[in-house]
Amino acid sequence: MMALAWATSPSPVNLRFGSRTTTSATPLVKKQRSSVSVHRLVGRGRALAEAAPAATCDEQRRQQTEDMLLRLDEDGWVEEHMLSLLTPVAEAWQPADLLPTFAATADEHRSQVSELQARAAGVPDELLVCLVGNMVTEEALPTGRVDMPQVERTVHHLIARGMRMSDPSCAYRGFVYGAFQERATFVSHARTARLAARHGDACLARICGAVAADERRHEAAYTRAVARCIEGEPDAVVRALAAVMRDKVTMPGELMTDGRDGDLFAHFSAVAQRAGVYTAADYGDMVEHFVRRWGVAELVGGLSSEGRRAQDYVCGLPRKIRRMEELAHNRAARMEARSVSFSWLFDRPVLLH
Ligand SMILES: [Fe+2]
Repeated sequence: MMALAWATSPSPVNLRFGSRTTTSATPLVKKQRSSVSVHRLVGRGRALAEAAPAATCDEQRRQQTEDMLLRLDEDGWVEEHMLSLLTPVAEAWQPADLLPTFAATADEHRSQVSELQARAAGVPDELLVCLVGNMVTEEALPTGRVDMPQVERTVHHLIARGMRMSDPSCAYRGFVYGAFQERATFVSHARTARLAARHGDACLARICGAVAADERRHEAAYTRAVARCIEGEPDAVVRALAAVMRDKVTMPGELMTDGRDGDLFAHFSAVAQRAGVYTAADYGDMVEHFVRRWGVAELVGGLSSEGRRAQDYVCGLPRKIRRMEELAHNRAARMEARSVSFSWLFDRPVLLH
């Protein structure tokens, strides 16, 4: 997910991995000598750091970004641990592999389109909302039941609006944010795939499953980068992790609008929560997962007093998130059922709670 949003974001470390999603953003790394890759990374890091607001980006910060990127690639680490995640172009999946083809005769094409529409007929509206919300930062996943011009308008609005990100001039925050966001995207696409299969659309399930597999590899890339950085700079990385958590990990689609619904992202999120595609509980699980994966609780040496405070805060966060989620769940249970019309679905109403 998120290639379009990332392409417009001021992230200092705009690494892209995978097949489909690499195409929209500028690919920074190629399967070549890692020294070439790291020079491109450093060059991009420097350019973005220079473009960041003066208040958040000083010489020291720029130097930190460059040093971090150079250290990351020591002993060919980038080539071995990150570039190895790239799928060879010949093996990458393509939408044309899964959708009706214009290369067929008119009759064959008509029958392929009718089959697609028949498969999509059983997919409930709430799942279509999740599908569209997931894909506005991806490329189109047609089902034959959504208002594609409205979906495309939403994509254009989002490109124009961009995204918010916690201090984009800090490279460590960029990696931490990437890991969280890619994992959230993986979860959403994988659940959408499972639900599409349950409602009888095996082709849609395969498409969402292929996207989910890409997101899994994006997550692995950012997760490994943070793990590598934390070995050398535990204090700076743990403080960056706490800062990202305090700012909340907002999705790149947060500023989406279709030009009509000013709360479109909130409405999409409510439908995703209700459908079980992405929930508040998932956020708590993710924080717990990364705290464990990066060994945050086990860090003993190399932490300043601020670093230790950040460590305590992050390690206690999953419990706090679960408590808040329980309260929100109880509140929602007392609320009256409410639905909202989605222009993506030709203004059909969908239950929020
Ligand atoms: Fe991704």
